Amino acid sequence: MTEIDFFKKASEEAERNRHLVQQDPYRLKYHLMPPVGLLNDPNGLIQFNGVYHVFYQWNPFDTAHGAKYWGHYTSRDLVHWKEEPVALAPDQWYDRNGCYSGSAIEYEGKLYLFYTGNVKTEDGRRETYQCLAVSEDGIHFAKKGPVLELPERYTAHFRDPKVWEKDGHFYMVVGAQTPNQEGAAVLFASKDLYHWEEQGKIAGASMNGLEDFGYMWECPDLFELDGQEILLVSPQGLEPSGFEYHNLFQSGYFAGKLDYEKAIFKHGSFVELDRGFDFYAPQTFKDDSGRRILYGWMGMTDEDESSQPTVPYRWIHALTMPRVLEMINGRLIQKPVKELKKLRKDKMELQNMEISGESLQLDGLSGKTAELMLESLKNVRGMFKIDFRNEASLTYNPDQKEIQLQRRNVKTGMQESRTCKISSLSELHVFMDQSSLEIFINGGEEVFTARYFPDPEDETIFFSGDAGFSVSMWNLEDK
Ligand code: FRU
Repeated sequence: MTEIDFFKKASEEAERNRHLVQQDPYRLKYHLMPPVGLLNDPNGLIQFNGVYHVFYQWNPFDTAHGAKYWGHYTSRDLVHWKEEPVALAPDQWYDRNGCYSGSAIEYEGKLYLFYTGNVKTEDGRRETYQCLAVSEDGIHFAKKGPVLELPERYTAHFRDPKVWEKDGHFYMVVGAQTPNQEGAAVLFASKDLYHWEEQGKIAGASMNGLEDFGYMWECPDLFELDGQEILLVSPQGLEPSGFEYHNLFQSGYFAGKLDYEKAIFKHGSFVELDRGFDFYAPQTFKDDSGRRILYGWMGMTDEDESSQPTVPYRWIHALTMPRVLEMINGRLIQKPVKELKKLRKDKMELQNMEISGESLQLDGLSGKTAELMLESLKNVRGMFKIDFRNEASLTYNPDQKEIQLQRRNVKTGMQESRTCKISSLSELHVFMDQSSLEIFINGGEEVFTARYFPDPEDETIFFSGDAGFSVSMWNLEDK
């Protein structure tokens, strides 16, 4: 097949299924999703010539993982998105089993995409190539082939290049695995984006006091925020410990100081970015207004995706909402971008509520696709709980200083929970979409992200416990 055939087949698949996909009551209203098939990581995030570009890992032909394409959306405001033609298809010898994750950078007016060419040989080996594709218009990309071969000292689990520029030099960080099965982040440098030299391993096991820390680190990202370097990574193979690391794979960050010359990164301990069930492989970019914006995959790797209720409608997974990152008192804070306020309609407001007791519905507070803001939370005694559509609930326990999200696991039918510690609770900012929840605690100090699949007709929100608060709610359907 030629490149054109690959593109045509993917767009025909999207057209053929468009009607079916739209019938799904769990189809989200304001999140980015695949037009058909499976979406995973966000890729190539950039604002180029004023336009926001979000690419994503896409298997158009199945609701399972496979040879990935780069799907593509553009926007002028981070709220209204246009579906663009496929950007990259697995149509070359060096990427024939998938154009895997990567990043974007602008250079001399052109858009450069770096991605991993994934190859599985006939005898079952894996090969990996870090590849480049260049575009003048941001829509059509010319592949330039591999620009970086697998260095010695790493296994073929070497992928997901993130590229940036600093003081006239280009840098790339790649997620890697050492021969003794340890995850690592490796730094490269280049003067022209085509020739790359290894600077060294900047993080991994046995560095900065890290012991065992997973067998592979996926999707690294490195950027400066408030005078520090932040290294985001998605480690595979961490064992659950206390409230941490309960998902199959994790995503989080190390904050510290990178010496670019010596390729030495002195950093603190790993902090999970999200406390919910469905969050992985986040990436960031700096937009024209200087904000550091993050998208994550609102999903998680699963060998058997078939139990997700969206599968009969031939699509699966979504991206999170865009979130602005800030460093406040040494903590990474995530806040929904302010542009999302454009979606707000029909404001409801209840000031100085005092509740006491079991399962109350508050006047006018119900919905499936809505934003809920609880402020001035005070006098929480015993516990305080919000039930979302009889399918998920958030509980705060002021004595233990713990906050917990519970939901029904669609595969097992059993309740499951994720918990984290907070020092107190003053604000809850909840974004509900047809089958997702993103809950920002205390102005984004902690975030819980989850998909959930309530009865599509159920719009109830129940409050219970003893507490005082003011609440605002908006409908977010963008009709
Ligand atoms: C993370 C990941 C990446 C890889 C991509 C393939 O979810 O496994 O490491 O590039 O997905 O789709």
